[in-house]
Amino acid sequence: MNNSPIGVFDSGVGGLTCVKELAKLLPHEDIVYLGDTARVPYGTRSKETIAEYTAQDMEFLRGHNVKMILVACGTASSVIMSSPEFSGNTEPSYSGVVKPAANAACASTKNGRIGVIATGATIRSGSYGKVIRSIDPSAKVIGKACPMFVPLVENGYISKDCAPTRYFAEEYLECMKREQVDTLILGCTHYPLLADLISDIMGDGVKLISAGAELARFAVKTLTFSDELAEREEQGSQKLYCTDSPELFSENVERFLGESFSGTVEKCVLT
Ligand code: SIN
Repeated sequence: MNNSPIGVFDSGVGGLTCVKELAKLLPHEDIVYLGDTARVPYGTRSKETIAEYTAQDMEFLRGHNVKMILVACGTASSVIMSSPEFSGNTEPSYSGVVKPAANAACASTKNGRIGVIATGATIRSGSYGKVIRSIDPSAKVIGKACPMFVPLVENGYISKDCAPTRYFAEEYLECMKREQVDTLILGCTHYPLLADLISDIMGDGVKLISAGAELARFAVKTLTFSDELAEREEQGSQKLYCTDSPELFSENVERFLGESFSGTVEKCVLT
């Protein structure tokens, strides 16, 4: 048993897709979330800069005495995998979205053709392809960077009928249709908010894998296995921190977590 909070971070609001699933699966856990909204997006930045921001995000969560860090950002998760400074044992342990999402995709595909949509930095890193091929060497992985999706989501352009978002989605997903993927990883945690639109374009036969939700499921398994689940009767608390305006962040929180969100939102400074 461990009643310390679970720490989750993302460059912005996208990681709340992980928090939503986590709170559903483990309602008694306290959660501390950091959205680095002053510096979002990470996906258009260099590997060095993303690594520096990621180290600061982790340090912030460690300062909150979390028992586990969930890197609910596809871009940060990908950079961690190829940056030596993040190798080795850390306290507390951390997990990114890439491995859980790749595992889920390999379990889901029937034709071995898996699509990955994510930020430019994630696609350039090849992170998802490497993990998928380590699980199934015969899998064909088709990656596509979708740089417009994060700003569209952060600004609330998420409806299936939103013409600008549909324009970009059709453009980005054209190669996925041509390659006949039957499983599509939403490799950036912002993208599940566009799931209705993406499904509409790809069709019902294509299974969408939400990287954030898969990470939450992985956390449940890990904490259960290590006997570190919280033991309390009451609902866990949710403390959300952002690095830019808490008012702007709160608008997005409702969009992601629903109007019933009863946690706190505060601004913080990262060092
Ligand atoms: C970004 O900050 O560019 C998107 C975050 C992600 O990759 O999940």
